[in-house]
Amino acid sequence: MRIDIITLFPEIALAPLSESIIKRAREAGIAEVKAHQLRDWATGKHRKTDEYLCGGGQGMLLKPEPLFAAIEELRTESSKVILLTPQGQVLKQATVRELSSEDHLILICGHYEGVDHRVITELVDLELSIGDYVLTNGALAAAVLCDSIIRLLPGALGDARSPEDESFSDPNMLEAPAYTKPIEFRGLKVPEVLLSGHHAKIDEWKKAQALQRTRENRPDLLD
Ligand code: ADE
Repeated sequence: MRIDIITLFPEIALAPLSESIIKRAREAGIAEVKAHQLRDWATGKHRKTDEYLCGGGQGMLLKPEPLFAAIEELRTESSKVILLTPQGQVLKQATVRELSSEDHLILICGHYEGVDHRVITELVDLELSIGDYVLTNGALAAAVLCDSIIRLLPGALGDARSPEDESFSDPNMLEAPAYTKPIEFRGLKVPEVLLSGHHAKIDEWKKAQALQRTRENRPDLLD
């Protein structure tokens, strides 16, 4: 898979993708990620990328011309263009899974109050938010999206762990609590059942615990 990120802050987008599992996946050629400086497509003496809002209003918007030029240069027949914005649909694991089978993603990182709406109507296939809060720009959101997708690509996680049996895989539930050694720590014991070696009982316990945790932390998942 190839991912092109268009941003005013390429370093912010790339830093989280330059460590550990994602770094290794990139080095192995499982994902090719490039972060591009939007300003490189801006013209004029000051290479301006932002402008005041038509009709008034606070803040600035990303101008259409540099974004059109960037996307028209980078896109191919098979590209999917995604805008990271708090106005987008909230990212879910199901969407991450769908996107992991694309050939080429182009991620546009919003900044200031957002982007000129003509960019959205003419170029963008999908608007995504990484949650109901506002970041200073979309570069971190793009990194989050890349991380969630790249770890699902074949070979990225190694064989140690399958992405199938984790939270938000079917059924749409949180994971059960997990324990490691020591078996007793400060008087706190690992639940007996996990030491029993009885796999059916352990599975049953995990399901019940997962359900209880989901009810407490994310009742919306059970609706
Ligand atoms: N840009 C600013 N906040 C964001 C968010 N929550 N998701 C995606 N992009 C953003």
